[in-house]
Amino acid sequence: MTERRLPLPVPPEKGREGAAREVVSGTRGGATAPSNQTTTLAHLSDLHFGRLDQEVAEGLLEELRMRNPDLIVVSGDFTQKGSESEFEMARKYLHRLPSAPLTVPGNHDIPSYNLLSRFIRPLSRYKRYINDDLYPFTERGAISVIGVNTARSYGWYLDWSRGRLNARQIARIQQRLEGVEPARLKVLVTHHPFIHPPDDRSRHTLGHPKEALKQLADSGIDLVLAGHFHKAYSDVVATRHPEVKSIVVAQASTSTSDRLKAEPNAYNWIVYDSGAISIVNHQWNGERFQPLTGKTYRQEDGEWLRNS
Ligand SMILES: [Fe+2]
Ligand SMILES: [Fe+2]
Repeated sequence: MTERRLPLPVPPEKGREGAAREVVSGTRGGATAPSNQTTTLAHLSDLHFGRLDQEVAEGLLEELRMRNPDLIVVSGDFTQKGSESEFEMARKYLHRLPSAPLTVPGNHDIPSYNLLSRFIRPLSRYKRYINDDLYPFTERGAISVIGVNTARSYGWYLDWSRGRLNARQIARIQQRLEGVEPARLKVLVTHHPFIHPPDDRSRHTLGHPKEALKQLADSGIDLVLAGHFHKAYSDVVATRHPEVKSIVVAQASTSTSDRLKAEPNAYNWIVYDSGAISIVNHQWNGERFQPLTGKTYRQEDGEWLRNS
């Protein structure tokens, strides 16, 4: 009989001095946004245990312990095949991070070979080994972050790696945001991105992205973090969908796996300070993670614009 593993806890709030302290899980939010407080976030994705580059994975741990962000987010694809052994390795790795991460599942976290598991209990292993909360929520500094599952076990199409967000899920996100102070930066974490990278249309974005983005932007979401393409980029939504109220989207590359798509392993370092968002891609150079040129975003009349 399989031993039941305890899920990773909802990440506790960490003070600026680095000391961990408890927050109540399942609150409706409403924390006051500290004015001009710098909040840092490390955005990892697509770890893909089963196809891990061990040296990069250890380098990432070192990097994160040194940088000690206010929050670590992992936007899905913890495993390659969704097997028990891969999930066990992923779970052990997550426990070595400097703080408990906020996580969402990816399409690779639904078992690909065990069809009974895939169709009857698609996320049971993810929930058992990684996180049993499919709407994780936390507040750090001036940022409120909510995650949602976009992976599906099947669809009326051949490519079951595609992702969706349904009306019930969007309603849950809207409900979650109701108690959040308007001044806070509101971040949504999904596995599937809403817009393509500029140079890659080889895979599908989330289904019906424009309609979902419209509802999320109108609900107050400022920034969406995703993965899946194994390509890093960030931009404002207005670039692709000028009719939608503009928010910022950022996609992280695969942070630790050898499933590279023409760019090195990387993660995004995100800073929110004095009403501006900075997103810098940190790439593995063979020895350590190194920052590249970043982009910054500001808000004007309720819409997010790119500075550089
Ligand atoms: Fe992936
Ligand atoms: Fe994926």
